[in-house]
Amino acid sequence: MKITNREVQPIVTPGGSAGTRLALENVSAGYGHVEVLRDISLHVAAGEIVALLGRNGAGKSTTLATIAGLIAPRAGRVILNGEVRTDSTARRVHSGLAYVVEERGVLLGLTAAQNLRLGRGSIEDALSYFPEIEPHLGRTAGLLSGGQQQMLAVARALASNPDVLLIDELSLGLAPMFVQRLLESLRRARDEGVAILLVEQHAQTALNVADRAYVLAQGQVVLTGTAEHLLSDFNRVESAYLGVS
Ligand SMILES: Nc1ncnc2c1ncn2[C@@H]1O[C@H](COP(=O)(O)OP(=O)(O)OP(=O)(O)O)[C@@H](O)[C@H]1O
Ligand SMILES: [Mg+2]
Repeated sequence: MKITNREVQPIVTPGGSAGTRLALENVSAGYGHVEVLRDISLHVAAGEIVALLGRNGAGKSTTLATIAGLIAPRAGRVILNGEVRTDSTARRVHSGLAYVVEERGVLLGLTAAQNLRLGRGSIEDALSYFPEIEPHLGRTAGLLSGGQQQMLAVARALASNPDVLLIDELSLGLAPMFVQRLLESLRRARDEGVAILLVEQHAQTALNVADRAYVLAQGQVVLTGTAEHLLSDFNRVESAYLGVS
């Protein structure tokens, strides 16, 4: 019997388990000749929120862009739902990846409803996460507040019923009330089995919602652990931000 490469290639996920939805294995990546990520390994299971922390320029957005297929790794593997992926962002989104980009990805000239229709899920599903968007459906998204725009972006992502959700900068510049609502929606998505990788400037905010976290410094994972453990030893997290592990 002929065995294809795909059948003989085991997916080894360091530290991962049967429920692992997203894994990076020894990934290095960058822009042009500039290497940004160096030998990154991480994993996120179904029903888990994992925070990706680190100071400005540490490589958080580059990590998400590599997972989404916007950047091809120079070395290592990106694995989604047990499959090594080297295909386009569109194909990854089609097979269960949702990505809320750093700039939210809301089209400011379209209405809120039109923005939701651009997603893969229904408006009803989006509103089930954020009913407060409903009165604004007919408004131009550019006239919504930053918090409302972020709710729109997260609602659109969650309505697509993703297996894996990447969020870059959930709370940047938002009022605490919005941050709480957004975190609530992530907890619900986690309970529904979504694997969430959350980039967040405020480490305490992230660790309060996350199950585990990785701290990046200069493109490398310098610290990882459960959120509970990292919160109880927060000095180490702060040192890790500076690249001192
Ligand atoms: N398009 C690009 N071309 C070249 N270098 C880039 C590009 N985008 C980012 N970089 C560099 O890669 C490094 C990591 O950037 P990245 O945006 O991943 O960091 P980050 O952790 O998301 O930072 P922030 O918290 O400011 O969003 C930085 O040194 C940055 O200058
Ligand atoms: Mg960033």
